[in-house]
Amino acid sequence: MCGIVGATSERRISEILLEGLKRLEYRGYDSAGLAVLNDQGVIESVRRTGKVQALKDAVGEHPLSGTTGIAHTRWATHGGVTEANAHPHISDDCIAVVHNGIIENHEKLREQLKGLGYTFASDTDTEVICHLVHHERKTHDDLFEAVQAAIKQLEGAYGTVVMDCREPGRLVVARSGSPLVIGLGIGENFIASDQLALLPVTHKFMYLEEGDMADINRTEVKVYDAKGTRVERDIHESDGNYDAGGKGEYRHFMLKEIHEQPSAVRNALEGRIVDGHVADDVFGNGSLELLKDIEHVQIVACGTSYHAGMVARYWLESMAGVSCNVEIASEFRYRTSHVHRNSLLVTISQSGETADTLAALRLSKELGYKGSLTICNVSTSSMVRESDLAYMTRAGTEIGVASTKAFTTQLVGLLMLTLAIGQFRGMSAEQQETVIKSLKTLPAKLEEALLLSDAIEALAPEFADKFHSLFLGRGTQYPIAMEGALKLKEISYIHAEAYAAGELKHGPLALIDADMPVIVVAPNDELLEKLKSNVEEVRARGGIMYVFADKDAHFKGDNSMRVINVTHCDELIAPIVYTIPLQLLSYFVAIIKGTDVDQPRNLAKSVTVE
Ligand code: AGP
Repeated sequence: MCGIVGATSERRISEILLEGLKRLEYRGYDSAGLAVLNDQGVIESVRRTGKVQALKDAVGEHPLSGTTGIAHTRWATHGGVTEANAHPHISDDCIAVVHNGIIENHEKLREQLKGLGYTFASDTDTEVICHLVHHERKTHDDLFEAVQAAIKQLEGAYGTVVMDCREPGRLVVARSGSPLVIGLGIGENFIASDQLALLPVTHKFMYLEEGDMADINRTEVKVYDAKGTRVERDIHESDGNYDAGGKGEYRHFMLKEIHEQPSAVRNALEGRIVDGHVADDVFGNGSLELLKDIEHVQIVACGTSYHAGMVARYWLESMAGVSCNVEIASEFRYRTSHVHRNSLLVTISQSGETADTLAALRLSKELGYKGSLTICNVSTSSMVRESDLAYMTRAGTEIGVASTKAFTTQLVGLLMLTLAIGQFRGMSAEQQETVIKSLKTLPAKLEEALLLSDAIEALAPEFADKFHSLFLGRGTQYPIAMEGALKLKEISYIHAEAYAAGELKHGPLALIDADMPVIVVAPNDELLEKLKSNVEEVRARGGIMYVFADKDAHFKGDNSMRVINVTHCDELIAPIVYTIPLQLLSYFVAIIKGTDVDQPRNLAKSVTVE
């Protein structure tokens, strides 16, 4: 989703801004721009639709020289993908603004500003901010006070940075609902929506909290809280070392990240199982105090993370003996729900910034949950900071918009949560040992699953001319079928639906014909025979199937069925293992279709608007 980079320095900053934008590309965007205050006090700006490279090329032809500047990648919400709608927006050649989020009362403000004589050059909600600051500047000598007065009139979510042509070296920023991080340098300071953008220039970061504003110049950063009181925010040293060009031997980040899963899972397990138990501090210090009383788990998440939650429900209810509900965050937050006694609110999020999931977490604090826990991949994210407990997935930075290693490591975390809660709810030492034994085999099993890569690449051409597909699974493999379908639609743009195989005869069977490939996930588990009946239902209607199956499941390939044998694994970890071939399938189909695998159209990595 939209990305922000800003800099005030003694050196020229165009390159820093462009490199920052490049590093934010993974978040998803459709246009980009930057504005630099030059030595003559003139704001020069360049914007382009499409990739950051197009912006770089344009700046290459018309270099922008200055030591203060702001830049942005835009993911369109209000107004189409046009150069005029790209940020920065500039009022009267003097107030330049970049903004992430949505200003909900923009129409009303637009009318008011038009009444004051302002004309609008874009269809965006953001443009109201720059005219509003410009207007407030007429009655406020100080830029900070003008921005403060302007944002008081905004409703909605924003992370915004303001630059004034009369104030070289100064940036004023405000955060409400959209994350911002300040990067601290020597004789220079930076601002960004994601610290990844600033790693080439600093490893020292200060995270703004909700409602914070900051006044930044080259040598000083002043932070004020929502009440306007000057506050100190902690400085964090980051050990992040993400290299934007770091695809290694792989053609795409997604493929690299698929192949990183054995090592990501090893990292996720490292040091966390001690003496046959999940270590006490895996979910944070003192976590057992909270977990020992939990009688119900409410999981809230979006997209792939929601699928991880759906798998966890099977585990928590069957092994930990605790009831569990799983809900999409955008639904949960807007309905009245019943809060069970001693209920734990679990959010699952790769980014830790997904707007709906974060809002659900905040809401849970008012609803009387016993406590909150997040399963997350970004230690500095809002969800980690605002939850009582946190499990870090340790997957390493995930760049591909389509989530892969974040998902499989979330599942590892959820199995550990099952053990941690289960130990207080009658899960025997033997049962725990079985889970742990199985978990320990996982990295090797994932490596074996990756060996299917060539076989899956070979069958991908059979999908490339298809418009629809159906994924089937039962039990814990039903959410895996959903995840497989999500991956395929995300990156290959083929319509894919997932069904619990038992539901087939209640409607979707009507869709079956030779043009609708049916992908079946079939480990050798207790539901295998039931699944085989469902397979026969498809076969009888002339469907073409691709069955990912344990070899002991004894599926026989024929004209209507291609069987891809997946390494034999324990039933418990099968949902994690069977995820791999489905990821590979979507990847190779997308390659044939020639889509933008790492940044699929219309999608964003971190969805910070609701
Ligand atoms: C995954 O492939 C998707 N890009 C998307 O569904 C994602 O999982 C969802 O937006 C939730 O993101 P989060 O895990 O960062 O909260």
